[in-house]
Amino acid sequence: TILVLDFGSQYSHLIIRRLREFNVYAEMLPCTQKISELPFKPVGVILSGGPFSVYEDGAPHVDHDVFKLDVPILGICYGMQELAWINGKGVGRGEKREYGPATLTVVDPACPLFEGVDHSQVWMSHHDKLQSLPTGFKTVATSGNSPFAGIAHEEKPIYGIQFHPEVTHSVQGKTLLKNFAVKICKASQNWTMANFIETEIKRIRTLVGPSAEVIGAVSGGVDSTVGAKIMKEAIGDRFHAIYVDNGLMRKNETVQVKKTLDEGLGINLTVVDASSQFLDNLKGVTDPEKKRKIIGNTFIHVFEKVASEIKPKDGSQIEYLLQGTLYPDVIESISFKGPSQTIKTHHNVGGLLEDMKLKLIEPLRELFKDEVRDLGTLMGIPEDLVWRHPFPGPGLGIRVLGEVTPEQVKIAREADYIFIEEIRKAGLYRNISQAFAALLPVKSVGVMGDQRTYEQVIALRAIETTDFMTADWYVFDAKFLKKVASRIVNEVDGVARVTYDITSKPPATVEWE
Ligand code: XMP
Repeated sequence: TILVLDFGSQYSHLIIRRLREFNVYAEMLPCTQKISELPFKPVGVILSGGPFSVYEDGAPHVDHDVFKLDVPILGICYGMQELAWINGKGVGRGEKREYGPATLTVVDPACPLFEGVDHSQVWMSHHDKLQSLPTGFKTVATSGNSPFAGIAHEEKPIYGIQFHPEVTHSVQGKTLLKNFAVKICKASQNWTMANFIETEIKRIRTLVGPSAEVIGAVSGGVDSTVGAKIMKEAIGDRFHAIYVDNGLMRKNETVQVKKTLDEGLGINLTVVDASSQFLDNLKGVTDPEKKRKIIGNTFIHVFEKVASEIKPKDGSQIEYLLQGTLYPDVIESISFKGPSQTIKTHHNVGGLLEDMKLKLIEPLRELFKDEVRDLGTLMGIPEDLVWRHPFPGPGLGIRVLGEVTPEQVKIAREADYIFIEEIRKAGLYRNISQAFAALLPVKSVGVMGDQRTYEQVIALRAIETTDFMTADWYVFDAKFLKKVASRIVNEVDGVARVTYDITSKPPATVEWE
């Protein structure tokens, strides 16, 4: 394992991502981690970038015991400045900020870190810089603006680089990270999904033991399905999946989930239709966060009731709750940021643990989304499901803007179905990260036949993104949009007008509520 100590850079998670791309396992911990309390012994350490200045009061610093680990260390940007600060304090504010591409010149070709990286474009993003070489270090690479773009310790395998190898704009960045991890740290390249299945199944069997039982909610999305499939492989029918139809699902979704999970994958599945309960509770509510809370609480209520009716075999007990947490959520919770603001409350099942006194089991908590997809494919989950766009927990409840009624849900559902059907027909589904139709609570005048109409507006949204933190709208050709608009207005009662959302995130979010 390579340890990445995070100093709060927006790119930190990408370091892990890149290392895993050549099958090296890496984990991130906050920069404040005490080295004597590390949960594992790393073969190398990377100090990430960060938004602070090493010389300022209150700036975060690494535990100096990191040098006692006696493993190679690579400091990136702030991480390099931290190494320099510890070894002579020669760090200060540069005359100007350097942001964007720069060309690297390697001045010490014998340095193993820079093999195959000479004269390539690298990505800079800094204001502070090294003003002198730290004690015991030599310069190995320069760039136009940074005389110390790359430094190395004279004797020990300690390196610093001013640029960000983890972003794709650093053309040979991955080569550099591979040089560090594989050549210098000798990290093994055995992180594959095939190995993961094997070790994870063993881990779950040991954790759960010979008789305890596990329950989990499934939604029809890739994460919960892959999680359920792993549990099924590990403990068979001692895993109970529960699917709650909240009346806010997409068209045909419930039937499809039943078919895939129960009939296809042989997962022990209970389907509950709680539509009327959800819709009753949502009556009269228009505030998005209130809707989320109501949907989340109703879900917990229904789920607990169903769970209490599941009677495990004699002597055994439901002890665990499966949750499809992914690594980005874990990173989010451990990264070094200081207080961050809640934009939307996404997690609607948090309350379950407290109420039911269950322990959490999270088989996917080490994985990125694309790793989950690989895993799903390996485990025989149908392609369609593996590549499914994400669908929010509150479902159409936050895509019907304003009050959620059965009639409004029906309009949103039909429009969404047509949009997605056309996207699939055009072969665009996999190019788009997420697409849907939102129903706006405004009426607009139209004309159909010779009649004046006065009906609602559908907003189509389709985005491209890698991490859903930032997103750009998808550029369809006009013919495609024309066809979708015409089908929706003609086929869905209650819609007089269709618009296409051309806002990026930020400043907009993906969902309309
Ligand atoms: P936003 O709208 O925050 O969406 O830009 C980013 C991603 O999160 C999904 N999303 C949710 N998922 N519960 C969920 O499980 C929610 O309340 C929720 N709100 C947004 C959204 O669909 C997108 O993929």
